Amino acid sequence: MANQTIHQKVVLIGDGAVGSSYAFAMLQQQIADELVIVDIQTDHVSGDALDLEDVQPLTGPLNVHPGTYQDATDADLVVITAGVPRKPGETRLDLVNKNLNILKTIVKPIVESGFAGIFIVAANPVDILTMATQKLSGFPRERVIGTGTSLDSSRWQVALANRLSVDLRTVDAYILGEHGDGQFAAYQAAAIAGQPLLAVAAKQGVSQLQLTDLETTTRKKGGSIIGLKGATFYGVATSLMRLSRAVLHNENIVLPIGAPVDGQYGLHDLYIGTPAVINAQGIAQILEVPLSADEQAKMVASAKSLQAIAADALG
Ligand code: LAC
Repeated sequence: MANQTIHQKVVLIGDGAVGSSYAFAMLQQQIADELVIVDIQTDHVSGDALDLEDVQPLTGPLNVHPGTYQDATDADLVVITAGVPRKPGETRLDLVNKNLNILKTIVKPIVESGFAGIFIVAANPVDILTMATQKLSGFPRERVIGTGTSLDSSRWQVALANRLSVDLRTVDAYILGEHGDGQFAAYQAAAIAGQPLLAVAAKQGVSQLQLTDLETTTRKKGGSIIGLKGATFYGVATSLMRLSRAVLHNENIVLPIGAPVDGQYGLHDLYIGTPAVINAQGIAQILEVPLSADEQAKMVASAKSLQAIAADALG
């Protein structure tokens, strides 16, 4: 029987700094066989595609080219980065209506193309826009994934590794809740090389207050970067690439995402940051991290804030 090579196709919506960095990461990591880039700035897309195709001789073939929403018909993934980026001092939630209106012009033609794959959403405010993508598309919730607190968890991992002088690959610690001011660290379940984080920190004389300060720095890191360089893109683009690989390679890996909780933490009907098992079907299982009473209260407060915005923005 002829070997049926699987052709994996991704459609990227939005070729700004995040989208372009994602495309570059997909080429570098050799994920997918075809990457279609869609943006209203068509000359920019054509230039970016020509620039990116020159990466192939040194990384491997990946057909990257401009396209339209119609290219989603036989795509495996649609990755949405399109949206107005945050300005210095602006919160992600300030962007809701601006980016919701952009999202509406994207999801409808994608669904009309006959797309039957998986959405991954990074446009901010990502928890609200991921929920909006699911509602606008009518797709099963497990096939709409938000980047959620994946980037925040990476930032937390870096901060803890630096502060405790450990290899960041040994840091198993999540930021949960809103990708925004309502996010919080789950200390109870966190570990460094299998040892409880709080015990490792105490052994090094790092107090809970110092950890809380580190958590605050992590929460504010996106805004700090924007204040310095005007935008953030490498971190979130890498989160998008990692999620894309987990889906396209059917990895069944646990990653922090923006997930459609359905009873986890006593929450329903919203997307919020928590780990989940990701594979070719999308979100295979949403995991509930064991929380202290204080952490559970933070999760509920974060959810309430998101639900209030969602009720206002999505009706
Ligand atoms: C940040 C953007 C992706 O946190 O919200 O960098």
